[in-house]
Amino acid sequence: MALPVVLDVDTGVDDACAILLAALHPALDLRAVTCVGGNADVDAVVANTLTVLDAAGRPDLVVARGAERPLLEEAVDARHVHGLDGMADLDWPKSPRQPVVAHAVEVLRDVLLEAAAYADEEHRVTLVPLAPLTNIALLLRTYPQVAQGIREIVFMGGAAQAGNATASAEFNVFHDPEAAAVVLDACVDLDIAVTMYGLDVFYAPRISRGTAELLVSAGGHGASELAGRLIAFQCERFGSDSATIGDAGAVCAVIEPGAVRRERLPVRVELAGTWSRGRTIVDLRDWGGDLSHDPHGQARSTIDVCLEVDAQRFATLWLDTVSGGMR
Ligand code: RIB
Ligand code: CA
Repeated sequence: MALPVVLDVDTGVDDACAILLAALHPALDLRAVTCVGGNADVDAVVANTLTVLDAAGRPDLVVARGAERPLLEEAVDARHVHGLDGMADLDWPKSPRQPVVAHAVEVLRDVLLEAAAYADEEHRVTLVPLAPLTNIALLLRTYPQVAQGIREIVFMGGAAQAGNATASAEFNVFHDPEAAAVVLDACVDLDIAVTMYGLDVFYAPRISRGTAELLVSAGGHGASELAGRLIAFQCERFGSDSATIGDAGAVCAVIEPGAVRRERLPVRVELAGTWSRGRTIVDLRDWGGDLSHDPHGQARSTIDVCLEVDAQRFATLWLDTVSGGMR
């Protein structure tokens, strides 16, 4: 049985790379894609997500509109990275479709409660947030009973080392630090397993400009051409000969979990720091003596943090899938 998954996205050039992989890989049963404001405003995210699913030949998939802004922070986009429309400003046909009327949190609730009703492991859903965690925080605090339908949460966010949105914070967590803190706390309350696919591995799986050109040559406004255009856009924007598959790496980690080295580590989110707000403070200390004298004590949340990745394996997995090699 293919693994049931739901993606929560802020599409997003690399979210689009992730959606293509999840929609096309035979090991996954993509049940829905929920949208949240982040890289662009939530309506642009919805439009981009529908467009990507059309290119993937998956107009059957449910898309839902979620939170427009963070729980407390003002919304700040990342159009300087992802383009004005949030998805590389491609001259690409926009989807004529609309999202479902229900809010993303309600769609997540319904999918997860349906999975919980089977009361078996194989129907439980792997939740893959690739964006600010606002929808997920609202979901877990509003409908905690959904936990029975969740196999695990594998989220793209945070970092054990340096940030990107600021010197110390990664964009998804920095955009809504309160939501990230709520999700980690709720997952302790609800005993939900969490894997953090953060910046420590995020940039490693890469596709070359030359490979992107081959993908684009497939034409036909299909998945392969879109995938190549997204990589080529990043190469241009960053002036590099290759580009990361970004969020798609978190989906790779669901398909091939053995390709990442992870450690179970205490993690907390800094909410108050002037220069460090939004930082995921990953406790890498390996001597109990330090902790026993630490006035902060150990973080309440201990999760699996991805520290190394077989980058070539993920790049190949993504490439084979979006180019049709897996179909
Ligand atoms: O920091 C990288 C993350 O921020 C990715 O999810 C990217 O799409 C942006 O949302
Ligand atoms: Ca994203």
